[in-house]
Amino acid sequence: MDMEKIVNYCKNYGFIFPGSDIYGGLANTWDYGPLGVELKNNIKKVWWKRFVQESENSFGIDAGILMNPIVWQASGHVDSFTDPLIDCKECKARHRADHLIEGFTDEVIPDTMTDEEMVKYINDNKIPCPNCGKSNYTDIREFNLMFETSRGVVKDATSKVYLRPETAQGEFVNFLNVQRTMRAKIPFGIGQIGKAFRNEITPGNFIFRTIEFEQMEHQWFCKEGTDSDFYKTFKEKAWKFLLDLGIDENSIRFHDHDKLSHYAKEACDIEYNFPFGFSELWGTHNRTNYDLGRHQEYSKKSMEYLDPETNEKYVPYVVESSVGCDRLTLAILCNAYKEEQLENDTREVLKIHPYLAPYKVVVLPLVKKYHSDKAKEIYQKLSKHFMTSYDDSGSIGKRYRRADAIGTVFAVTIDDNTLNNNTVTIRDRDTMQQITLDIDEIINYVEERIKL
Ligand code: GAP
Repeated sequence: MDMEKIVNYCKNYGFIFPGSDIYGGLANTWDYGPLGVELKNNIKKVWWKRFVQESENSFGIDAGILMNPIVWQASGHVDSFTDPLIDCKECKARHRADHLIEGFTDEVIPDTMTDEEMVKYINDNKIPCPNCGKSNYTDIREFNLMFETSRGVVKDATSKVYLRPETAQGEFVNFLNVQRTMRAKIPFGIGQIGKAFRNEITPGNFIFRTIEFEQMEHQWFCKEGTDSDFYKTFKEKAWKFLLDLGIDENSIRFHDHDKLSHYAKEACDIEYNFPFGFSELWGTHNRTNYDLGRHQEYSKKSMEYLDPETNEKYVPYVVESSVGCDRLTLAILCNAYKEEQLENDTREVLKIHPYLAPYKVVVLPLVKKYHSDKAKEIYQKLSKHFMTSYDDSGSIGKRYRRADAIGTVFAVTIDDNTLNNNTVTIRDRDTMQQITLDIDEIINYVEERIKL
């Protein structure tokens, strides 16, 4: 599977289009089409189910993208949320120094390298610029990734606001609101799904690294001393969730960080083997009491939790589980897309978990002239329960292929037996086996098989 194939597949089948396409696009922006939005919504729904709904003592929020700018001073993002920017003096192309090194060597380079060590490595090895092939670079400058904008009618220093670079701070600033209103006892969790923005130096690889993306983040507030155990629990929870979504176990691996973010005591990624190699998909971080402690310091409001049993007061530790929704969408598409060799044919099939499939069922009248009325009636009935599509053009074989290619789980064919006996044939996308069912059995049959 190469990246170009997946990009074309997504464009041609209505999953993901280049952003502002009719104006020549805007680099590294993407719009989700009819199938993409269904897939992404299903991913968000199942993440929410697992991390909020089914997680005892977890609650959801939906905080604003714009926050008081002091939030980002307190969180450390104003000072430390930077990437090492290096320019090619010859062609002026901009690069992330660490990515330049990673792209050049198969050696395992420690992620604790300082800026000076990276410059030395790049110059000693004469790493060529991926754009012009020459090796003549500036020094590294630390480039802050936060997007700035201004609010109000006057554009001055006091009007500056940031587009949030992570959703997590929404959970931290609402920690006590949630704790109080939900009468939550430690340990408890707050989950959120929402947009985040980063002025990435080198966005790219389709929806893998973009400047606008969605995160699904869950913060677990716990007592110091219990944090490392919860950190392990959440690493495993993320791993199991990926397997439950149908991700091939051989395509993922853990990568413990040597170089920790400014807030973390322990950090680990689950990396997925994307077409361009193993890269970060999901982060689990032990953020200690750094964030709540800093918000306490900057806001002058107590962030302490009062334990009702022991009367002890403390600022809780936080274990964070964070995954990009777009990155997970890409991993799921790469994992599910197959070109299968059949006896006399090949078929494109998206072997995606049924819960995630954009359409669960397609309704197919065998002969348009005779079977359309009944097929429309059944379509109306099914579409009240799950995403259902309708296809009456071309041979039945072609229609099966179209449905397979977009991952539609079941094809329901309406024929003379439907008119005479109230039965349909229902074909399974993965096995291509067909069975006969009574019309009244379809909904239960499908619902049983799309659960997660
Ligand atoms: N709150 C912690 C945090 O934001 P992160 O490792 O910087 O940690 C978490 O980001 C996840 O967000 C990543 O594992 C990745 O899935 C996703 N992500 C980060 N930057 C992204 C980008 N530019 N484009 C798409 N997804 C991104």
